[in-house]
Amino acid sequence: MARARGQMRLGAFFHPTGNHVAAWLHPQSQIDAGTNFGHYVQIAQTAERGKFDLIFFADAVATRDGPLEVLSRWPQYMAYFDPFTLLAGISALTQNIGLVATATTSYNEPYNVARRVASLDHMSGGRAGWNVVTSSNQSEALNFGRDEHFAHDVRYDRAREFVEVVRGLWDSYEDDAFVRDRANARYFIPEKLHHLHHVGNHFKVRGPLNTARPPQGHPVLAQAGSSETGREFAAEIGEVIFTPQLTLDSAKAFYADLKGRAAKYGRNPEHIKIMPGLNAIVGRTDEEAEEKHQQLQSLIHPDVGRALLTTELGIDLRPFPLDGPLPFHLIKDDIKVGSTRQFVLKMAKRDNLTIRELYLRYAGARGQRTLKGSPQRIADDMEQWFLEEGVDGFLVQPATLPGGLDDFVALVIPELQRRGLFRREYEGRTLRYRLGLPRPPSRYGRTAAD
Ligand SMILES: Cc1cc2nc3c(=O)[nH]c(=O)nc-3n(C[C@H](O)[C@H](O)[C@H](O)COP(=O)(O)O)c2cc1C
Repeated sequence: MARARGQMRLGAFFHPTGNHVAAWLHPQSQIDAGTNFGHYVQIAQTAERGKFDLIFFADAVATRDGPLEVLSRWPQYMAYFDPFTLLAGISALTQNIGLVATATTSYNEPYNVARRVASLDHMSGGRAGWNVVTSSNQSEALNFGRDEHFAHDVRYDRAREFVEVVRGLWDSYEDDAFVRDRANARYFIPEKLHHLHHVGNHFKVRGPLNTARPPQGHPVLAQAGSSETGREFAAEIGEVIFTPQLTLDSAKAFYADLKGRAAKYGRNPEHIKIMPGLNAIVGRTDEEAEEKHQQLQSLIHPDVGRALLTTELGIDLRPFPLDGPLPFHLIKDDIKVGSTRQFVLKMAKRDNLTIRELYLRYAGARGQRTLKGSPQRIADDMEQWFLEEGVDGFLVQPATLPGGLDDFVALVIPELQRRGLFRREYEGRTLRYRLGLPRPPSRYGRTAAD
């Protein structure tokens, strides 16, 4: 199926040091990126200059775990800012770009998250979004009084209720509750403040939230579940969907599947924007892009490459020679169809790869799609995925920061604009409006227009 031409949505996913596993070793990368506020401001402003819909920061409430020897060779998520604190700072130094971050439903309380995200929405004039995750990381449990992580289904049950409470809290005050009338000594209309009185399986929350209704009504909800339960949850509540898709066929299947689930929840499929990750390496020519990629690849430390494969395949690869084959007989075959693990194993078998050759293909972008080439080649590919209804847009993950983003904004964005596939100027005021998402009315009454 093909869609009528239109404009795609673009997000920029900022891993602190860039998406490529060896980005931090590149001489032009920001070496202390995770804790350098000036660096984040610079890349946020660059993305805004490129008219991106949003920037996105992932999060976990733990460092990565594993052998210290390996951890110390890859700074990703070892030392970095709390993303909502970071976005609050960035909101004061940007005007238009959407500001989206992760907050886990496993190790937060809904009241805290509702307040935090609503505050950002007010501070940014309606640009906030929340990536609703359930935490897939066992190490987070250990920081929150638990020895074991919640089971997968429990996580999603909790997440569903969490979102219900957060949305309820955002509606605590009606949009026009605050009259701030000095003459009559009335600050807000009493009937326009509502207590939630929520009692459920996981939470008991009286409310109301001590924040005015957010400018967007409800800040935008992003979701990135890939399991059956995760997809169902995404279809139920997700407005922006992040997903790793490696081929156009799998992207189309995911797109049709997720949009097809929307009706069950009384939702319009157009109000779910699917934005797979895109690890773009841009050069002025294909050769220049390939050179940039090869330079990064040559910087991958073998300990890190092998450790990443170990995690993906669930087997300790340290006893095996790097230049020998994978010990296939030791790898469990309970592999989910369409998973990254299945993809990696298939590739190793098909191309008869050694462990080193395999990690070189996998580690750079951890199984996410890498697209290398000239601006024309990259735009051709993005255009095809968009027009053939594999995506509504992309979550661009620059391989290096700030350089990879600078290249994308200088070279690819103008090419997309020239083809009429991307905006030249921001329209409207809020993230919700720009994404083409309606403003949710308050459950209690009237609502303001965007
Ligand atoms: C682009 C993208 C960003 C993600 N960001 C986070 C994150 O910040 N924190 C987190 O715990 N999980 C994150 N995830 C993981 C997902 O939320 C989800 O747990 C994962 O895709 C597995 O799916 P499942 O939960 O349905 O099993 C992200 C996934 C993707 C594709």
